[in-house]
Amino acid sequence: MIAADPTARLLVTGGAGFIGSCYVRDVMARRDGTRITVLDKLTYAGNRANLAPVEADAEQAARFAFVRGDIADPAAVGPLVADADAVVNFAAESHVDRSILDPAAFLRTGVDGVHVLLEAVRRETERAAAGMRSRPPRLLQVSTDEVYGSVEDGFSREGDALAPRSPYAAAKAAGELLARSYHVTYGLDVVITRGSNTYGPYHHPEKLIPLFVTNALDDRPLPLYGDGMQVRDWLYVADHAAAIDHVLRRGTSGEVYNVPGSHHVPNRDVVAQLLAHLGKPWSLVRFVEDRPGHDRRYAMDGAKLALLGWTNRVAFADGLAATIDWFRANEAWWRAARSGEWDAYYERQYAGRLANADAAARATTGAEAEPADVAPGSPSAGTGA
Ligand code: NAD
Ligand code: TYD
Repeated sequence: MIAADPTARLLVTGGAGFIGSCYVRDVMARRDGTRITVLDKLTYAGNRANLAPVEADAEQAARFAFVRGDIADPAAVGPLVADADAVVNFAAESHVDRSILDPAAFLRTGVDGVHVLLEAVRRETERAAAGMRSRPPRLLQVSTDEVYGSVEDGFSREGDALAPRSPYAAAKAAGELLARSYHVTYGLDVVITRGSNTYGPYHHPEKLIPLFVTNALDDRPLPLYGDGMQVRDWLYVADHAAAIDHVLRRGTSGEVYNVPGSHHVPNRDVVAQLLAHLGKPWSLVRFVEDRPGHDRRYAMDGAKLALLGWTNRVAFADGLAATIDWFRANEAWWRAARSGEWDAYYERQYAGRLANADAAARATTGAEAEPADVAPGSPSAGTGA
């Protein structure tokens, strides 16, 4: 059991991304002897700089290794799993809007990649059964609340049916179902977490909160989809990482654990809060054409994880303040993330939407008007393009 082993060797796949790098930084900062190897493809979302605090600290760096590679590549994965007591799989394409533009990469990493990891864990499980290693590796598959689909009322529980509605969510559902099938069929030691919408430092600026914070810092328009009344449950990244570690060390093999957030609100309210914190006006908001198939609401019940001994620590107001402070202090980081292919992505995702929203505003007012500077929820705040 990993819980009893302070010198566990972890393979963290996708550990250069947003949540994975937080997990690595936080586990390494405990200085309890845990050794970590990160395997990461360094896609547009992966960033070696996210691991700089670990690599810059001599004691942590001695327990750390970084390998650039693909979880769908058996030659890269096999030897790393052979050396690991546990695998924590964060690797995925993670942005719903990109999955709508181009689903193929989501399936390659989310389905083929997970399959390759499972085959490697299966081989090591067989070696353990043959007495060739002391115990089989545990695999924690990081999944998402989006596998439940849009939940109009109530709170999703782990036994509920999966009904993913975007290519991203479908790939995540496929990955966790494959993982569970390997537990049932081949006896692999697998645990699964379903985390809710996560936010915090090092969040790639394509996602709602960092996109709106960085756009607002530059006084650029904030493209809010549809009526902005979609509900998400916001989870601070350090809480998400800690919950994953808790399940890795204490979760029951074969089980799934919801990891809910601490702030269950419509997007409009999140945007109003972040603008208030930044001291920027609501007039930056543009109601733009909605995301196709946009899930209206996610909400999970966290009782099972609470029974395992874990609940959230960071309140949204505190997490949001820390996040905004971090983005203010780390402008070079987010400007670098908004470079390279960013402009082409931004143009494809938003240029038409923003132009249509501005044309609709002009048609309504009969002038080159900026949207009124009013609070969300006010009748003149707009109701969607
Ligand atoms: P991210 O996009 O910031 O990071 C993903 C990381 O995986 C990147 O470092 C990328 O380079 C790497 N990667 C992608 N494909 C790879 C491959 N084939 N092989 C190796 N590495 C690869 O994503 P994130 O927000 O940190 O999410 C991490 C995990 O958590 C994902 O599995 C995601 O589905 C899940 N999740 C995210 C959220 C959220 O709100 N961000 C919520 C619940 C669950
Ligand atoms: P996002 O951060 O992409 O996470 P997810 O789609 O996984 O929930 O989006 C969070 C919410 O914000 C979601 O309801 C979509 C909405 N959204 C916008 O309104 N505008 C945007 O530009 C983005 C990126 C998201």
